[in-house]
Amino acid sequence: MRLSRYFLPVLKETPSEAQIVSHRLMLRAGMIKQAGAGIYSWLPMGFKVLRKLENIVHEEQVRAGHIPMLMPTLQSADLWTESGRYDAYGPEMLRIKDRQGRDLLYGPTNEEMITDIFRSHVGSYKDLPLTLYHIQWKFRDEIRPRFGVMRGREFYMKDGYNFDLTREDALHSYNRHLVSYLRTYERMGLQAIPMRADSGPIGGDDTHEFLVLAETGESEVFYDSEITDLKFGDREVDYDSHEACRAVLDEFTSRYARTDETHDEAMFNEIPEERRRTARGIEVGQIFYFGTKYSDAMGANVQGPDGKSVPVHMGSHGIGVSRLVGAIIEASHDDKGIIWPEGVTPFHAGIVNLKQGDAEADAACDALYAGMVALGLDPLYDDRDERAGGKFATMDLIGMPWRITVGPRGLKNGVVELTSRRTGESEEMPPEAALERLAQIYAGHRVTSPL
Ligand SMILES: Nc1ncnc2c1ncn2[C@@H]1O[C@H](COP(=O)(O)OP(=O)(O)O)[C@@H](O)[C@H]1O
Ligand SMILES: [Mg+2]
Repeated sequence: MRLSRYFLPVLKETPSEAQIVSHRLMLRAGMIKQAGAGIYSWLPMGFKVLRKLENIVHEEQVRAGHIPMLMPTLQSADLWTESGRYDAYGPEMLRIKDRQGRDLLYGPTNEEMITDIFRSHVGSYKDLPLTLYHIQWKFRDEIRPRFGVMRGREFYMKDGYNFDLTREDALHSYNRHLVSYLRTYERMGLQAIPMRADSGPIGGDDTHEFLVLAETGESEVFYDSEITDLKFGDREVDYDSHEACRAVLDEFTSRYARTDETHDEAMFNEIPEERRRTARGIEVGQIFYFGTKYSDAMGANVQGPDGKSVPVHMGSHGIGVSRLVGAIIEASHDDKGIIWPEGVTPFHAGIVNLKQGDAEADAACDALYAGMVALGLDPLYDDRDERAGGKFATMDLIGMPWRITVGPRGLKNGVVELTSRRTGESEEMPPEAALERLAQIYAGHRVTSPL
């Protein structure tokens, strides 16, 4: 993309309505525009990041054996009356009447709808296990939408639902989700810690939230500092193996880590004092096992091997895809702007032409641009007739993790400059070497959509 042809409405002033850094930076970098309280348009660069996160989520879900689909945003109230949640959900649910006077709602989650799909089409244990998921817009009429996309009213969420014959199988599905979530967040450049949580309106007795540590997080968290040393890394886990998934759960949940809702002071105090940490965290996902709560209420039964009809065991599992855009910025920025992790950056590198209109500099930039495209990389070329300082400031603000600077002086010696946004270090090298370096950096980060 050439900046002269893009739509990147960068703001000079810091918007006064934004209280936290990610909201400020998303507005300043031209990623979002507010459309209403807690409702946002995703401008091109914001949309690009959202799509990258979505692709990573799809890839990891499909890798775990979960099946993508898509349910609508509008739901009929009837199903929610069946489960008993139409009244129980309260004022967070946006209720709508159509012209026939029928009660609809803008879905805050999809347990009822997926259970209805399941009971209509599945009748035998032979069709289990089954995990279906979708990534879809949700609406919750939050009393205090704030912090931009972090606590929106309309937000984008991956929600998945497992159907299993037994409690044991369903707990394996739970563990499998935990493993896939650890992988997902690490690919996004985040450390998200699974913490024992409260089950809220979804109900059920087993649940973990995934929290990214950040001062601006809405949850108070208590943990053993040893937990932050755990890395999932690039290990391959056999998602069909109950033992392998269970081992990962044990490893990542064996140390104390809880949110304020389930915090137990006595247990916390058993940890050596120097390892006790109190901090704040952003909830970026949650997994639940809730047994037969919905299958009992809605009659989602299957015939077991003995011919008897039994309610299926279920769980639901969510990732806050739009919230993650803000969470990543909270975890990765400095006073100049965003610093995108390589796995999610909207463009792989910025190209800055120090002397637009200089035949040699223009040609070198064009060649670098074509070279990146040939490598399957996505460049953002600042080809505007602007001062170098302004171009650098824009690249820093919008978070380009790598920048190639091209100017007549360097070209005389056959070199361009490659700069890391994270360390600020620059290195001069021939253009081909810069391309080679970028190819190496991004070798492990290519996202191909599984759809
Ligand atoms: N109002 C919101 N704005 C943005 N993301 C949200 C919002 N509410 C929930 N999410 C995201 O969706 C994920 C799954 O939702 P869920 O656990 O059902 O929400 P909650 O914890 O608010 O009941 C959460 O972990 C969070 O990342
Ligand atoms: Mg939650």
